[in-house]
Amino acid sequence: MRDDANATDTLQPMRPLTVVNARLLTLAGSAARRGAAMRSLGVIERGFVRCNAGRIESVGSGNPTGDLGEVIDAAGRVCMPALIDCHAHLCWGGNRWSEWENIRRGMPWSEILASGGGILNTVRATRATSEDELAQGVRGRLNAMQRLGIGTTEAKSGYGLNQETEARMLRAIGTAAQSVSIKVRRTFLGGHAIPQDDPEWPDRLAREVIPAFATLFPDAAVDAFCERNALSVDQARAVLQAAKAAGFACRLHTDQFNSLGGAEMAVQEGARTVDHLEAATDETVRCVGASPTIAVMVPCSGYALDGRYAPGRKLIDAGAAIALGSNCNPGSAPTIDLRFAMHLAVRHCGLSCEEAIVAATVNAAHALGIGGETGSLEPGRRADMIVLADRDERSIVHGFAHEPPLHVVLNGCRLSP
Ligand code: NIG
Repeated sequence: MRDDANATDTLQPMRPLTVVNARLLTLAGSAARRGAAMRSLGVIERGFVRCNAGRIESVGSGNPTGDLGEVIDAAGRVCMPALIDCHAHLCWGGNRWSEWENIRRGMPWSEILASGGGILNTVRATRATSEDELAQGVRGRLNAMQRLGIGTTEAKSGYGLNQETEARMLRAIGTAAQSVSIKVRRTFLGGHAIPQDDPEWPDRLAREVIPAFATLFPDAAVDAFCERNALSVDQARAVLQAAKAAGFACRLHTDQFNSLGGAEMAVQEGARTVDHLEAATDETVRCVGASPTIAVMVPCSGYALDGRYAPGRKLIDAGAAIALGSNCNPGSAPTIDLRFAMHLAVRHCGLSCEEAIVAATVNAAHALGIGGETGSLEPGRRADMIVLADRDERSIVHGFAHEPPLHVVLNGCRLSP
């Protein structure tokens, strides 16, 4: 049976809602922003946004007219699109606290994976976790994320690495998504690693599982991890080709620890995103910059693991469209706070505050394939926005481990604080 994430929205707006007197960051436009265009936020001073039935109806400067419904007077504060987390592994069983202590004592992450730990440790725990428990974990994370002002998030599978558990994870994500306001986009990360009990898994994945999941989870994207001790370039290529043939959009974790040619292959295969890129060479930067593929940076894992960060400045200067993700997962990025990724992108990847905001809103929406649906304040878009406590948007990037926005509006409804 086909299973849909976000088939319903929990909060059903009963009447219009209007934010007035705001410094609006509209981020309006139809395509992902790349290169120099990543610095433009589409600011309207003293603007308003009127929402009705969960959608933005009108955006402008000055005073709106007509039935405003519930009014939020921003008093000159910043109102911007809710954030979008386009790279997040939100579903798992178990924990990795002991491994983290080993990493802190100097054991490299890749060595832990090679010896059957890391992702494979979480695979064992996830296989032993019921669908209900998985859904409960995802629901808790989604609730916490929406309170921080995240209006849409990706949720990857990838800790099952067999057909039964991967399907259980995707169903659990779909179930959790039905009870929250944050919008969820699922990704089938069946190619996250090669399980110890099935060395032929990448081949089985491409031949059998991806075609089967095209019927079961048609809303999902497909992802894989191209790295030593995970999938080789050829194995990852076979997964992406099978996914394309089954009608899925493709993404690839690549160039995280080693530059193996995965990013170039993914660009060639027309992947929607290449994610990580901490080890990207100048040649890879040029290749991604000249392509329509979006470069997704996930600096929270550099922070948590080894202090290595993607060359964000070089990528933007090469013309790339950059998006940001929290990379929330139990190992390399134990956080749900995309705002921390924005902070790190400025602190360590060379982005400006404006570029970090674009990367966590409109470009992240395009990375999830929903650029026409959310990520900007424009008539017709989902009514997802946040009002900051400040009159200058740099505050959301400058802060870390800081307070949530003053107001969070999702699907046209204000979340209670
Ligand atoms: O994006 N690189 C591959 N996957 C995750 C790590 C997941 C884990 O450690 O469990 C990442 O960093």
